[in-house]
Amino acid sequence: MPTLLVIDDNPAVATALDVLFSLDGYATLSAQTPEAGLALLEREPIDLVVQDMNFSADTTSGDEGRALFAEIRRRHPDLPVVLLTAWTHLENAVDLVKAGAADYLAKPWDDGKLRATVRNLLELSETRAELARRVAGERRQRSALARQYDLRGFVFADPATERVVALACQVARSELPVLVTGPNGAGKECIATIIQANSAVRAGPYVTLNCGAMPADLIEAELFGAEAGAYTGAAKAREGKFEAADGGTLFLDEIGNLPLAGQMKLLRVLETGRFERLGSNRERQVKVRVISATNADLPAMIRAGQFREDLYYRLNAIELRLPPLAERPGDILPLALSFLPTGKLLGEDAQAALRRHAWPGNVRELRNTIQRAALLSTGAQIGVADLGLPGAAAGAARAETDPEPDRTAIEQAIARAGGVLAQAAAELGMSRQALYRRLDKLGIART
Ligand SMILES: Nc1ncnc2c1ncn2[C@@H]1O[C@H](COP(=O)(O)OP(=O)(O)OP(=O)(O)O)[C@@H](O)[C@H]1O
Ligand SMILES: [Mg+2]
Repeated sequence: MPTLLVIDDNPAVATALDVLFSLDGYATLSAQTPEAGLALLEREPIDLVVQDMNFSADTTSGDEGRALFAEIRRRHPDLPVVLLTAWTHLENAVDLVKAGAADYLAKPWDDGKLRATVRNLLELSETRAELARRVAGERRQRSALARQYDLRGFVFADPATERVVALACQVARSELPVLVTGPNGAGKECIATIIQANSAVRAGPYVTLNCGAMPADLIEAELFGAEAGAYTGAAKAREGKFEAADGGTLFLDEIGNLPLAGQMKLLRVLETGRFERLGSNRERQVKVRVISATNADLPAMIRAGQFREDLYYRLNAIELRLPPLAERPGDILPLALSFLPTGKLLGEDAQAALRRHAWPGNVRELRNTIQRAALLSTGAQIGVADLGLPGAAAGAARAETDPEPDRTAIEQAIARAGGVLAQAAAELGMSRQALYRRLDKLGIART
């Protein structure tokens, strides 16, 4: 049950509010002087304060209320405070709301309005506390991951990415094959290196083969090796990737490009560890951890008869799905900053434009965009024009007339940005100054 504290020199006010708030199931404590109020705040868990502005019969300046409010703010930066003030002194209260008071009402107050105000503020601070708990939890988890595992310099801040990284670390130690899926340039290869770096065979070889980068008829020879004369151009016997990766990890990139014949052989190695070089009958045995990656829709390829279903189930004993960058917006700025050469800065307009862009080429596109902009920008600061994003300038102009983000959107952006207002502003597509103005207007503390 939320507990409210009423600080007013007139005991009749506290009595009236006690009755009013009990309708909503709140408990009310009361104090008749600022000192008694502050003392109660130290002793009791209080969720919201309703305070008067004048405490001595002969004062109407509001100075006492102002001092009390300042002291409450200093001790409890997030506690919602509602000011009750004579209607003749409303402008004082308006100033205090700008300074972070939650809200104000003129005396005599309207019961319905006061109840609604209190209810909203309590709900809001509950959401805020919930968000803060979540953000703190996520941050703790992220640093725990970084302490416990070698993340290979992988940059991330979005909870969606964190889930993938956590899972990658968790499955790294097992021997099961892992399939990493996700769109172009999303960081699938990075995830594969994280798995390798944290696996039981991290000291072993790490061999990679990009099945999309070579003609289909050469892939098998690459994978399994070949005896001399096994195919045109095979002058000497050669070792395949499976042999090279024995005791370690084999990363098969763009696995969707492996031809059906190769798929069958791959299935056999995965099941038995056994294979033969092309043109040889001698069976070889290896122990290899296989990580594969694809941006293809393998289930669709299975339906089209282009990919073996049994191989699919073998490869994706564990599937790690890396979402497109647009679906993990919390990563955009941290990544952009990580790609920024030293001595360069990202202007606020540029940050907002990065945040707005859809990133069809994902992290690779972001990296290229930042590197190009760093070369093109003349000063230390990269501006929106340097980014060369299609429609970025138009987007910036449009943002001026966009409806302003509401309280929830702002609170969540701040929470996602871990309280870094510049980052929250960029995420909301507004300048930092605009965010400050908005925070003041909504009475959200600039923590
Ligand atoms: N979270 C990240 N932190 C730092 N760099 C990253 C991150 N994600 C991706 N990169 C960088 O972005 C580029 C693309 O990443 P990567 O090659 O891993 O993507 P991919 O999903 O394998 O792409 P493709 O589908 O084209 O093979 C690389 O230069 C990589 O180092
Ligand atoms: Mg790749």
